[in-house]
Amino acid sequence: MNVSIIGTGYVGLTTGACLAFLGHKVTCIDSDEKKIALLQAGKTPIYEPFLTELLEEARPNLQFCRDYAAAVPSAHVIFIAVGTPPSADGSPDLRYLSQAARGIGQYYDGDYVVVVNKSTVPIGSGNWVGSLVRESFEQHRGRKTGERFSVASNPEFLREGTALHDSLYPDRVVIGSDDARSLEMLYTLYRPILDQTFAPPTYLPRPEGLGAVPLISTDLASAELIKYAANAFLALKISYINEIGQLAEKVGADIQQVAKGIGLDVRIGTRFLQAGIGWGGSCFGKDISALVATASEYSLTMPIVEAAREINRRQRERVVEKLLGELKILKGRTIGLLGLAFKPNTDDLREAPAIDIARKLVERGCKVKVHDPVAMERFQEQHRDLQVICCETPEETADDADALVLITEWQQYREMDWEALAPRMRSRIVLDGRNALDRARLTRFGFRYLGIGG
Ligand code: UGA
Repeated sequence: MNVSIIGTGYVGLTTGACLAFLGHKVTCIDSDEKKIALLQAGKTPIYEPFLTELLEEARPNLQFCRDYAAAVPSAHVIFIAVGTPPSADGSPDLRYLSQAARGIGQYYDGDYVVVVNKSTVPIGSGNWVGSLVRESFEQHRGRKTGERFSVASNPEFLREGTALHDSLYPDRVVIGSDDARSLEMLYTLYRPILDQTFAPPTYLPRPEGLGAVPLISTDLASAELIKYAANAFLALKISYINEIGQLAEKVGADIQQVAKGIGLDVRIGTRFLQAGIGWGGSCFGKDISALVATASEYSLTMPIVEAAREINRRQRERVVEKLLGELKILKGRTIGLLGLAFKPNTDDLREAPAIDIARKLVERGCKVKVHDPVAMERFQEQHRDLQVICCETPEETADDADALVLITEWQQYREMDWEALAPRMRSRIVLDGRNALDRARLTRFGFRYLGIGG
């Protein structure tokens, strides 16, 4: 099938690479000239494991351009995967979504096409996008569309860092549509994934035992709500374990054992119960705010979801509190932060706990040193205002530090030679913000080890 994808961020690029790999003819459109030039040269604007390899393999089926005229008329399916960043009041900024819908309306030639909302859009956006496409078509063509297009919602559940794996081997595919033909077309598009009939790339093997992937077909509003409800639930699962973690510390329990003990109950599940400094990233915070805002339009409150956000905010403060408890005075102290990205295997710094924590420590008068294996460049571009010292190695971050804080659980930090690091520090304090390090080993090397949640 001919597929066009508007927006080459994490979602658009991953979707494009996977669909082209599966044999569809894919055109990715982005208004950013630099990004398109980079992609045309075989490079990626984002750090995502195996993306360069998959793009290379899919190259015969893949092209990149800035021009709607080159991508819209021939498409059977058009994905909108543009950013919907939070605006000043927390509601999603729909400017790019509206531009994409109007661009489609302007260039589509009147043959049947399915317009798919893949970006996380407010509930009700399906209808809105439809009206924008229609309006723009009529304005540019001087006639009515005759309803030869339909809008579907196909929410994305990929995680940064494992985006390709999540897209090729999803837990489920959700398609919301009020039109049988578009559902049929999307079913055909996703068939190799639903039936798992494709030969996997060598670097992304199929998980053992993976059978057919369930397709959940719903109306538009349900598909849109599924996306928000899923992200909010994951966020509150993390906040829940972090709240229990606070009590665990007081009563002398170990939150990791508690998480395992409750998680093995299949009704609860072990995943997303990793206690620590809490969630960051571009999705959970933004989606929770949008969910709360939508509810308020119907005079509803969402106390559980709001509490998850508040607990997450507190987790970041606990880093400062713990350091204060240990060092007594923060002014003049040197604190090394290991990891800046909001999670490992990405260079994404949006809503990253590291930024908040670094700012709080600087405000307290600390000298803050930072390191990240991949996000340094992006950090220097985006956070020039933050008065911290950028280090090239974790060792340099440890030099003369009064404490090291593990912010992002990169494999490199788990595996590094902590014994050699110890003598470089002024005092051997490690605050493990992700409960990811080996407490017994570090204690053996003379570190005072502090975890989160006991
Ligand atoms: C999240 C969802 O997991 C995806 O399903 C969804 O598609 C995506 O948002 C989105 O809406 O685009 P992502 O933000 O990429 O994916 O990353 P996650 O793996 O969910 O991690 C989010 C944050 O939670 C990270 O800061 C991570 O460190 C933290 N986390 C995760 C915990 O603190 N504890 C856990 O147990 C799990």
